Amino acid sequence: MRSLPNPPRGKGVRGTTGLGEGGLEVRVYRRPPRHRARNPQGTAETEAGKARQGAVGADDGVLHYMDFAATSALRPPEVVEAVAAFLRQVGATPGRGQHRLAREAERLALACRKAVVRILGVGGGPDRVVFCSNATQALNLALWGTLRPGDVVVTTPYEHNSVLRPIRKLARERGVEHRVIPGDEKGALDLEAAERLLEGARLLAVTGASNVLGTCPPLRELAGLARRAGALVLVDAAQWAGHFRGGLAEAQVDLVAFTGHKGLLGPQGLGGLWVRPGVEVEPWQVGGSGGSSLSPDMPPAFPDRLEAGSLNGPGMAGLLAGIEFLEREGVEPLHRRVMDLKRALWEGLGSVRGVRVLTPPAPDGVPIVTILAAGVPPEHLARRLDEDWGVLVRAGHHCAPLVHRLWGTEESGAVRFSLGWASTSEDLEVAVRGVEAIVRPTSVAFS
Ligand SMILES: Cc1ncc(COP(=O)(O)O)c(C=O)c1O
Repeated sequence: MRSLPNPPRGKGVRGTTGLGEGGLEVRVYRRPPRHRARNPQGTAETEAGKARQGAVGADDGVLHYMDFAATSALRPPEVVEAVAAFLRQVGATPGRGQHRLAREAERLALACRKAVVRILGVGGGPDRVVFCSNATQALNLALWGTLRPGDVVVTTPYEHNSVLRPIRKLARERGVEHRVIPGDEKGALDLEAAERLLEGARLLAVTGASNVLGTCPPLRELAGLARRAGALVLVDAAQWAGHFRGGLAEAQVDLVAFTGHKGLLGPQGLGGLWVRPGVEVEPWQVGGSGGSSLSPDMPPAFPDRLEAGSLNGPGMAGLLAGIEFLEREGVEPLHRRVMDLKRALWEGLGSVRGVRVLTPPAPDGVPIVTILAAGVPPEHLARRLDEDWGVLVRAGHHCAPLVHRLWGTEESGAVRFSLGWASTSEDLEVAVRGVEAIVRPTSVAFS
């Protein structure tokens, strides 16, 4: 039996995948933290508390998961069930074969494409959803598939490396010019400069929501400026999807990259690109498409044209269940609730002596609060929060180098708390108490 490495410290509690003899033994790090919430599951009367009962990772009552911007590690039980049911009952690859299992997988793929169109609030039919393995692959597809030698691409400074790094490679290999709209450390962009920078541009690539600032750039205004300049609009919806409904169609964007494992509550390994009808995207990867096998090129019809290789069936089953969960609970009420928690967290952390809250309150943004603690390196704070308080957060630069440059935190990095559908006020309470206890002994304050 193979074992995963032991957790760094503490005993851990064993669990198994249920694969039986020869299966993978999973050693989950569940050393109880030294400090516990009064009611770690959330108040049973609250919707979140109820929803959280039975969620993956919520069963031992010691985890205060606050890293939803990285991935929704707490998933609704129906998502897990859907993945397992697919593996148990379907197992085949969509678009590969005429037999009943392949047809069932194809039916599920179509249902998932339709659900993506609904939750993103875009039109154009399910065939405009091109499945990829994550937002990174979708963004690469969009950028490499639209930018030609010598083209200009404009971005905000709030973009993730999954946008910035492909553009850098495109600059080296295709002579693409990258222009960055000036913006401040609170998320305010210079729209007059944006208008100038968009002149002659082929593409505007803009994040729907920043993964460290927690703000949403003014999409409608930016898209309007881009359209007037004749540029396509690509939205990185990795942090946006699942928090908002509508807005993309109204902004008339052309390309939307999404990932399934964050706000959409699916498993890792599935994301995609929505392409507006009429927008041309060159295949970035080519290979088997399940049909038109005698043709040396990818078939012309969407989505096959841009989907090379076998698709992620279990991922689709999970993503569909995640989207249906959001639709049942309501995207708006869930988001409102979690944004109320964000405000409380922002205020709570801001009241701790020695803590600088880097994110603006951004009530119309996403539930992310990023801080710096005087005298406590971010990695240390994150480690202590985990080990002593069961509060799981993320330290570092969060793949957003330009935001850290604006904050002046390139050296140190910062600590990000991000909330999601299963967050409770008890999580916040423990997090603030934990930060207070860790930072207090240093007795250092920001001047
Ligand atoms: C804003 C943003 N864009 C893109 C990505 C990439 O998503 P994935 O890792 O699923 O490809 C992330 C992931 O953190 C993100 O926060």
